[in-house]
Amino acid sequence: MDRNEAVSKITIPGILERKLRGDRLACLTAYDYPTARLVDEAGVDIILVGDSLGEVVLGYDSTISVTVDEILHHLRAVRRGVRRALLVADLPYGSYHVGREEALRVAVQYLKEGGAEAVKLEGGRKRSALIRCLVREEIPVMGHIGLTPQSIHALGGHRVQGRTLESAGEILADAQAVEDAGAFALVLEGIPRELAGIITRRLRIPTIGIGAGPDCDAQILVLHDVIGLTFGPAAKFVRRYADAHEVLRTACSRYREDVALGRYPSDQESYHWPASLREHFEKEASRLA
Ligand code: KIV
Repeated sequence: MDRNEAVSKITIPGILERKLRGDRLACLTAYDYPTARLVDEAGVDIILVGDSLGEVVLGYDSTISVTVDEILHHLRAVRRGVRRALLVADLPYGSYHVGREEALRVAVQYLKEGGAEAVKLEGGRKRSALIRCLVREEIPVMGHIGLTPQSIHALGGHRVQGRTLESAGEILADAQAVEDAGAFALVLEGIPRELAGIITRRLRIPTIGIGAGPDCDAQILVLHDVIGLTFGPAAKFVRRYADAHEVLRTACSRYREDVALGRYPSDQESYHWPASLREHFEKEASRLA
């Protein structure tokens, strides 16, 4: 996409229409200006500044430590790179757990100062009142249920959810509650495809799957998984489209080797005096010789 081309901006009403038309949406995370720009130019529909940034770009063990300010810092960089996609910011752990006022304050800050067009938060029925409150204050909300990484301690790790009849029923009730509360989309993470399919058929709002099979209205992945810029094994649902890890590692080690061997920089990569000054110093050097 040419930067000067007119773009057809992705909007929330547009996303809801896409579900009615049966169009699938592609969503990715981004955490900085260059990757946001590339993801947007690739035509991805929704860009999420996810709290996964804690693990993939800040090196934390989980998303629990991510702060409101860290999300805001990355959100502003991403905002500068995005023109077409809908930009969503994650509410980090702790920002909506201590009270509705605080949640509202952070969400307003992400819209006003960070340029987000919506916020995402984790949890189903227990978040109904909060989602209603945010929506009432003109803040579009994306829900997130199933395997919710901010509940990693309570869940006992990254475990697929909804594998028993009882837990599938709980997730179904959560999905309905999030829609009823006014969310415009719902992330379904780490649940069996059969359950994701039932939820997708039941809801009017689009479902966005991650590890939830192909029957969702949309898919989302963490950018660094897609481009292969991670350490350690990937989850079963990740499809890697590039090996950025190897590309970057090789580029850095070739650079280091060129410097060590005096091959970088070359004469062409150096600035030069103008000819008159060079001649002056050459004459001076031969006079002194
Ligand atoms: O934080 C994140 O990146 C997410 C998505 C993977 C859904 O929550």
